[in-house]
Amino acid sequence: AQPRRLQRALLQWYAKEKRDLPWRATKDPYAIWLSEVMLQQTRVDTVRPYYERFVATYPTVHALAEAPLERVLADWSGLGYYRRARMLHEGARQVVRDFDGKFPRAASELRGIVGIGPYTAGAVASIAFDTRAPLVDGNVARVLARIFGVEEDVRAGKGRARIWELAESIVPEVGAGDFNQALMELGATICSPQSPACGRCPVRGSCAGFASGEPERLPNMAPK
Ligand code: ADE
Repeated sequence: AQPRRLQRALLQWYAKEKRDLPWRATKDPYAIWLSEVMLQQTRVDTVRPYYERFVATYPTVHALAEAPLERVLADWSGLGYYRRARMLHEGARQVVRDFDGKFPRAASELRGIVGIGPYTAGAVASIAFDTRAPLVDGNVARVLARIFGVEEDVRAGKGRARIWELAESIVPEVGAGDFNQALMELGATICSPQSPACGRCPVRGSCAGFASGEPERLPNMAPK
């Protein structure tokens, strides 16, 4: 696919069609980080009220770092996967201690913070700072496997590495955060696992899966 054409089509579509979500009204890296951690294992509709309450209670990374862990866990209750809340609290303490409360802008440095893996580092770097950093989650892996016709299993090994390479190769210099969010949004709203709505897809003209006539065949999930 031609990256320029793909970038323009996705960014235009996202500017017009993006859902109005509370974490999209901020560039605060702390708030972006919080939203991405919540969204990792929990649906958007569930996250929304928790996110709003959490940023009201802990408006800054300092506020979170200074709060007793028991409070944070209590405020997390209902979201599940409490390990996320523990890591968030520990990560906040680390950002205050090691970075004077200021998040680093590079994905590689963000990776040094407790609980921030490749996905979250890419999300904070690109969305908060517009750093040219890729990200891959399940939705993005599916979208890229279809666009580029990746036949390998995208969950591990070569296929997973190939998807990250592709994500890195197409993320634009300007608008990286919007571009990454557009990929996720496309996966969440149009490029669904079983029955993608290719008729409404802004990038079907650059999509190997669409051209094949069987986009739902990708990504190839070999039984584990
Ligand atoms: N899922 C996780 N983070 C997201 C984001 N920033 N936009 C859309 N879907 C997401």
